[in-house]
Amino acid sequence: MKKSFVYNNNFSSLVVIIIIIGMCSVTARSQLTTDFYYKTCPKLGMIVRKGLFNALKTEMRMAASLIRLHFHDCFVNGCDASLLLDGEDSEKLAGPNLNSARGFEVIDTIKSAVESECSGVVSCADILALAARDSVLLSGGRSWRVLLGRRDGLVANKTGANILLPSPFDSLETIITKFLNPGLNITDVVALSGAHTIGQAKCAFFNNRLFNFSGTGAGDPTLETTMLNDLQSLCPLNEDGNKTTALDRNSTDLFDNHYFTNLLVGKGLLSSDQILFSSAAAVNTTKSLVESYSTNPDLFLEDFVNSMRKMGNISPLTGSAGEIRKNCRVVNSA
Ligand code: HEM
Ligand SMILES: *[C@@H]1O[C@H](CO)[C@@H](O)[C@H](O)[C@H]1NC(C)=O
Ligand SMILES: *[C@@H]1O[C@H](CO)[C@@H](O)[C@H](O)[C@H]1NC(C)=O
Ligand SMILES: *[C@@H]1O[C@H](CO)[C@@H](O)[C@H](O)[C@H]1NC(C)=O
Ligand SMILES: *[C@@H]1O[C@H](CO)[C@@H](O)[C@H](O)[C@H]1NC(C)=O
Ligand SMILES: *[C@@H]1O[C@H](CO)[C@@H](O)[C@H](O)[C@H]1NC(C)=O
Ligand SMILES: *[C@@H]1O[C@H](CO)[C@@H](O)[C@H](O)[C@H]1NC(C)=O
Repeated sequence: MKKSFVYNNNFSSLVVIIIIIGMCSVTARSQLTTDFYYKTCPKLGMIVRKGLFNALKTEMRMAASLIRLHFHDCFVNGCDASLLLDGEDSEKLAGPNLNSARGFEVIDTIKSAVESECSGVVSCADILALAARDSVLLSGGRSWRVLLGRRDGLVANKTGANILLPSPFDSLETIITKFLNPGLNITDVVALSGAHTIGQAKCAFFNNRLFNFSGTGAGDPTLETTMLNDLQSLCPLNEDGNKTTALDRNSTDLFDNHYFTNLLVGKGLLSSDQILFSSAAAVNTTKSLVESYSTNPDLFLEDFVNSMRKMGNISPLTGSAGEIRKNCRVVNSA
């Protein structure tokens, strides 16, 4: 009788220990890791790099477009490739993305190549994160080891995309709040805004600064005058706002710190760019960091990497949450 009791007691302990070990391994698996596909898809890095290289041969701007996709994905329901889903509730139809977010075909092409090599293993969310890293690197920025192991979400969130993504017309206070919400901070606001060192923006996103800014009858006084004149002829009042120009007119395709040197001389393109330096609210928040990055390119490139890793870590789905999508545009059950 006694012996059996002891045996049972030991058995219970064993069960408890097994459960604890099990919980530990679940916890371990719920963290992103740089070697997540080391065994299951060892050529992943090379496949993504090659796909991106091919895309950039045709159009260098694609690097910028893909970095933006990763950002717009991560700010809505976490980095779960929800942005890539088509359909009625598609985030692609939300204000910040409609006729603006681009590069979906490039992600499709890379995903197909990845599926041929290792089918059903690599998430679309991780492909976006890798493509964003390689876009920075191939544009002349620094590289980093990408945290991997995200899984793909089952729903898109158009309302979320409208509410959560920053607008170029937002105040600095609002932009900062939109970064604080998912756990980022003011350093991340400034460093990540530095992604506007590459890529383009449409007249529709800055033409409010050109002719009758805030009802003043004149251009935005924080916009440098020769650039203002340039933009006035590029974006006349009677056009549809679809023409584009470089976010960084100093070195358009190069991932450097000229975005910040531009801000010091009133050459930020979007209002949301220039207010990081010129607004009253910048004085106690972002202005000193803009100044630091403008004189210290290494500090910018280093902080940018840290902030990208932080942004890539926003609410990832891990373990058995979500799924590994076969086609980035639709959930598997559809
Ligand atoms: C701080 C708030 C931000 C606002 C208000 C903002 C707004 C915008 C707008 C309006 C455009 C032009 C889109 C178009 O004309 O179609 C744009 C482009 C871009 N944004 Fe941002 N953005 C912000 C932060 C970021 C962040 C955090 C990243 C990435 C880390 C980023 C990366 C880019 C890139 C690379 C482009 C160029 C895309 C292309 O050429 O296709 N932006 N952004
Ligand atoms: C969409 O995003 C909003 C804003 O964060 C959130 O309140 C809502 O729960 C999300 N909906 C879904 C279906 O995830
Ligand atoms: C933002 O967070 C990073 C760590 O993720 C930290 O190094 C940095 O000092 C923080 N910046 C501010 C303004 O709190
Ligand atoms: C500028 O906008 C203000 C306020 O909307 C308006 O009253 C004014 O007529 C506009 N001026 C010009 C020159 O269009
Ligand atoms: C810009 O072009 C898109 C098609 O790419 C079109 O649907 C949209 O109406 C245009 N925007 C404006 C303001 O006309
Ligand atoms: C670009 O910025 C650098 C550093 O501020 C400056 O020396 C250079 O003259 C600028 N070039 C152009 C084309 O604006
Ligand atoms: C900046 O901070 C100082 C001291 O903390 C404060 O007196 C000042 O009002 C703040 N300025 C702005 C524009 O918030």
